[in-house]
Amino acid sequence: MAPPHAASPYVLSLVLLLLSVPAVFLLAPRLIPPRTLPAIPDADETDDLALFRRAVLLSAAPSSNSKPAAAAADPSFFAAAYGRMTNRKRPPKQQPKVAFLFLTNSDLVFAPLWEKFFDGHHGLLNVYVHADPSAELTSSPTPSFKGRIVPAKATQRASATLISAARRLLATALLDDPANHFFALLSQSCVPLHPFPTLYRTLLADNAGPKGRHRSFIEILDAEPTLHDRYYARGDDVMLPEVPYDRFRVGSQFFVLTRRHAVMVVRDRRLWNKFKLPCLVKKKHSCYPEEHYFPTLLDMQDPAGCTKFTLTRVNWTDAVDGHPHTYQPEEVSADLIRELRKSNGTYSHMFARKFAPGSLDPLMKIADSVILRD
Ligand SMILES: *[C@@H]1O[C@H](CO)[C@@H](O)[C@H](O)[C@H]1NC(C)=O
Ligand SMILES: *[C@@H]1O[C@H](CO)[C@@H](O)[C@H](O)[C@H]1NC(C)=O
Repeated sequence: MAPPHAASPYVLSLVLLLLSVPAVFLLAPRLIPPRTLPAIPDADETDDLALFRRAVLLSAAPSSNSKPAAAAADPSFFAAAYGRMTNRKRPPKQQPKVAFLFLTNSDLVFAPLWEKFFDGHHGLLNVYVHADPSAELTSSPTPSFKGRIVPAKATQRASATLISAARRLLATALLDDPANHFFALLSQSCVPLHPFPTLYRTLLADNAGPKGRHRSFIEILDAEPTLHDRYYARGDDVMLPEVPYDRFRVGSQFFVLTRRHAVMVVRDRRLWNKFKLPCLVKKKHSCYPEEHYFPTLLDMQDPAGCTKFTLTRVNWTDAVDGHPHTYQPEEVSADLIRELRKSNGTYSHMFARKFAPGSLDPLMKIADSVILRD
């Protein structure tokens, strides 16, 4: 029989074990890796909500609350859009304008090409830039981009922050100028493929929507092989009941929306509450919320008001890690531009991506003779 003191190591272990239980609870959150990717910060959500409410309010009651387009030139405007309501008379009826919404996390290297594209048409367009706060914008902005930077928040891939940034641009452009009628979302690697008047005619000519309305140019697909994994990227049944699997859509992140649809997107809270949920870490490679939110929302709310076709050409051949083919300077040619314009839809492509920063020079060389000539 063991002497009494032999039990003491066991007692000691038991005591240590009991003591360690609270420690495990305290340390567990640090030891167990998170199940989901980072969520959108609450402060960003609160700011956005205030901006979106104002945009919807002012867009819904244009007769009493809209502001004249001239105020858009006021650099303090964007700050004011976040801070207070303006209360001025509606300007005389204007030609519809195209709002160019640039989403960027680096210098807008193609600004000189866009300047050429905008040249002579400033009465029919406005420019807005959402630059990620971490973006180091080193080159000074060309005239059309000067003072057009909207208050931005951090964006990253595999999160809903890119949706937020696009909605922020839409809301700001809605508030800025009641004449903004089309909203074209672009990135820093997008380039134009036709002169501005061709784009303008295309947007205005398309009136096959309900009651002869203009339609949005947004890709809406329902039979992509990746759809299943992407639907479940936030977990099982998380999207229900708002987004049943058979209503989930995919499409290009880049689109042209009509004003009606821009308001629809900025007003939405129901679908946003689902799409803003962070993806599971293990589903990171199926996490592209910005390619689903807009097509799903518009397909649910106004399918007949969309062409289901994007005006932005992208080359997914040999895509790497979710990045499409990036055209290098030596690939740029008149033939490439003509090839990229071709489409299977009713309309020719108006924009293309992605172009490497170094391709600015060769693009500028063929701007007047090819890109800006039909
Ligand atoms: C698309 O990219 C591939 C390389 O990834 C290239 O071979 C092909 O020519 C490109 N297509 C067009 C239309 O530019
Ligand atoms: C047009 O459709 C064909 C067949 O589906 C496809 O191979 C081709 O890439 C499409 N072209 C464009 C410009 O989308």
